Amino acid sequence: MMIDTTHINRERVFFEEDQTIWLFGYGSLIWKAEFPFHERRPAYIEGWARRFWQGSHDHRGTPDAPGRVATLVESPGTTCQGMAYRIDVATLGPLDVREKNGYLREQTVLHFADGSHAEGLIYLATSDNAAFLGDAPLDDMARQIAFAHGPSGPNRDYLLHLAEALDALGAEDRHVFSLAQRVAKLGIE
Ligand code: SIN
Repeated sequence: MMIDTTHINRERVFFEEDQTIWLFGYGSLIWKAEFPFHERRPAYIEGWARRFWQGSHDHRGTPDAPGRVATLVESPGTTCQGMAYRIDVATLGPLDVREKNGYLREQTVLHFADGSHAEGLIYLATSDNAAFLGDAPLDDMARQIAFAHGPSGPNRDYLLHLAEALDALGAEDRHVFSLAQRVAKLGIE
């Protein structure tokens, strides 16, 4: 189901309005950074695993035929690699709109390769949001991703761009790479 979390996120202010903040991207925010930022650095967060369990009814699918996009699920001992962006708080406005189908701003600690860390923000879609699809056999998820299409383009592009970006970061992610292999084998119909 299509939802709109924009108004909820506007109230989720964990920072001073005039400071810059770190945003951690783990899905399209890694490879589609169409927003202004001061700097970006590869980073990781702890205790979370990336999963294609969130429905996309607005970007990579439609209300009748949703696609699947990334969210995070709690996974003690797991690290999730991604990209950190230092942004102005004002940049969250358009990002809230982009992430409106179920994602909420959440605070988390970001770790950088040099051993430093910082408090930051993620957009998280939890299992209690109406657009959440949850787990399914990998082959079923791959088939859904291979054929879904929405206003932002084919769902397969989201997955394959993410897999490429993770590969470039040297990231391990069996879930994403297994899905990408399966989707690459399925032709576009
Ligand atoms: C993210 O990339 O960090 C959030 C999910 C998405 O926009 O794909």
